[in-house]
Amino acid sequence: MLEGIIKIAKAAGEIALGADADRHVSVKEGRANFVTEYDKRVQSYIYGELSRLLPEAVFVGEEDDVHPDMMRDGYRFVIDPIDGTTNFIRGSSFYSVCIALMNCEKQVCGVVHVPALDTTYFAEADKGAFVTRGGVTRPIHVSGYGLDGAIVAMGTSPYRAELITKSFDLTEKLLSKAADIRRSGSAALDICYVAEGVYDLMYELSLYAWDFTAASIILTEAGGVFSAINGESVTCKLNTPYVAGSPAAHADFIEFIKAHEE
Ligand code: IPD
Ligand code: CA
Repeated sequence: MLEGIIKIAKAAGEIALGADADRHVSVKEGRANFVTEYDKRVQSYIYGELSRLLPEAVFVGEEDDVHPDMMRDGYRFVIDPIDGTTNFIRGSSFYSVCIALMNCEKQVCGVVHVPALDTTYFAEADKGAFVTRGGVTRPIHVSGYGLDGAIVAMGTSPYRAELITKSFDLTEKLLSKAADIRRSGSAALDICYVAEGVYDLMYELSLYAWDFTAASIILTEAGGVFSAINGESVTCKLNTPYVAGSPAAHADFIEFIKAHEE
């Protein structure tokens, strides 16, 4: 199953890589929220291929008009055809194809493919997490860092104007402890960087299941922790404020949030 999903994610990445200079952009709900013809084309390609691979599975994909109940029984693919659409539109390499497979609340496997960086992250439940970069595959693991001296990635929740001030206030406070702050524009890629130990923590005050599910499977298989920012489970949530971290950085973050909310 995992091999088949990786193959589909890579072929989907080729569609994005071969895109015309004109990405055929239109606007979605919220501020600065864009979609291109390629988001739709890639999603429809992935749906076609995955439904042959696992016909009984249901789909939750960003470009659907309606989204099924996240708690329903059975297999569920959670898909973001292009995570980092704004980067994709502007010609940045930081966008990814994300495919997760869940069985009810259980993680089965996740793939985050970054076509323009020739990089594929993948993980299967209880089998560890891996990256293939430039044709070489190796296991990945989170760092041993806590918040002190950490590299912290943030997501700006760009489509929700009302969260901007809160996001940057939190980031400013965290920088008093962390070494530095990062923001790639693809939440899935940032979470995979935490899984790889390149970053130590990543959070965002609003994110959808299609942006985080595949990457969160990779993170937890790499020894990391993924939760809501109050520490609660996010499994089967369609949208949530979340934090992804090495165990030490995640624990420090939860403490930090409590201390700053009191
Ligand atoms: C977005 C990216 C971005 C994050 C947004 C997401 P999209 O996904 O992951 O980094 O800040 O919250 O919605 O819309 O490009 O698939
Ligand atoms: Ca997307």
